Amino acid sequence: MENVIWLSGHERLVDDIVRAENCSLFDSAGKRYVDLESGVWCTPIGHGHPDILRVMGEQASQIAHTGFCYACPAVAAAADAILTLHGMTDGKCAFLCSGSEAVEYGVRVAQSISARSMLMTMSDSYFGAYGSAHRKEKSDWFSFDWAGCADCSLQDACDESCEHWAAIPFDAIGGFLFEPGSSSGLVRFPPDNLIRSIVARVRADGGLLLINEVTTGVGRTGKWFGYQHYGLSPDIVAMGKGIGNGYPVSVTAMAPPVADRLEDRPVPYAQSHMNDPLGAVIAHTVLKVIQREGLIQRGQDIAAMLMAGLDGIRKRTGVISALRARGLMVAVALEDDDRATRTTRAHRALVNRGYILAQRPGLNVLRLDPGLTIERRDIEGFLEAFEAVLTNGE
Ligand SMILES: Cc1ncc(COP(=O)(O)O)c(C=O)c1O
Repeated sequence: MENVIWLSGHERLVDDIVRAENCSLFDSAGKRYVDLESGVWCTPIGHGHPDILRVMGEQASQIAHTGFCYACPAVAAAADAILTLHGMTDGKCAFLCSGSEAVEYGVRVAQSISARSMLMTMSDSYFGAYGSAHRKEKSDWFSFDWAGCADCSLQDACDESCEHWAAIPFDAIGGFLFEPGSSSGLVRFPPDNLIRSIVARVRADGGLLLINEVTTGVGRTGKWFGYQHYGLSPDIVAMGKGIGNGYPVSVTAMAPPVADRLEDRPVPYAQSHMNDPLGAVIAHTVLKVIQREGLIQRGQDIAAMLMAGLDGIRKRTGVISALRARGLMVAVALEDDDRATRTTRAHRALVNRGYILAQRPGLNVLRLDPGLTIERRDIEGFLEAFEAVLTNGE
């Protein structure tokens, strides 16, 4: 493994994972790990779902990749299914390869059609590994720090009487790119009234609403998409991670008015695997499986069980300082020192006991993003192990 560039800052905790099935990973000695992290939050219907394996084989044996001048009807069928879910019938989709790319594509669409070039976002949002939304240069982006809004006592719509609001340069802003549940901000959800007020103000000037559903989408937060918790109707939605269930496909979806405006202003963007049939068919199948198996409801039920268990552990141990969650997007913060000694010890102990969850290096927060298909007995086993680890230290 020394010949592979590993992500800096992340220690390799298990070196020989060789097989996976639903929410279980197995090492070469046959030891089972419960996957409470879904890789990088990417496998909502579990590893190796039989439908995905089947369509992968079928589609690859027919055609995996076409190119710019040949179209495969399966791609249009997948686009229809995705647009229908978003209420964007007659809109358009682009199939791409990563969450970063889907966000960047959406940004380029907005920049192509918007009268004002600046986009607004929240300061703790993460949008990808490259591109304009990654760089967030001050000339192109206004980053709003909403820390002061989290505990705001005013429940009305936000307006000019608030100094934070008055500092937003709405006259220059052509769109709002919103991540409806910040992943890098370690599972934080901006207040409803703040988001609705920003959206109304941006739209009043003809601005666009772009949503980054790379982490929050495809059932992760207990609804199909994170923006539904805010009652929003987006113009552009970027999807990644869960839409491919581990296969690298992502999608940017556009509502009809956006798609229409692109007719005479094509997006300056091309890459070799745009609209590949294999990725599109996998994304379509993920949606079908979630629908057929009732996994949005199942995710909500599992989340309720997990949170009730975590809350009990919080009360009994007294070492959990915060529980933040929406659906199966969960952060558990521990009382800890500056070096996150307790959290790191608990994380290692849980991995040793066969439970894989995430710790951002050096932080006192553990993250859980299990598949919607996780077995109840695995959640029970985790809760038991977690309480033992917090109580006994190992
Ligand atoms: C909220 C959010 N947006 C975008 C991305 C980028 O997705 P990808 O890593 O697939 O490029 C990530 C990745 O973690 C993410 O969490």
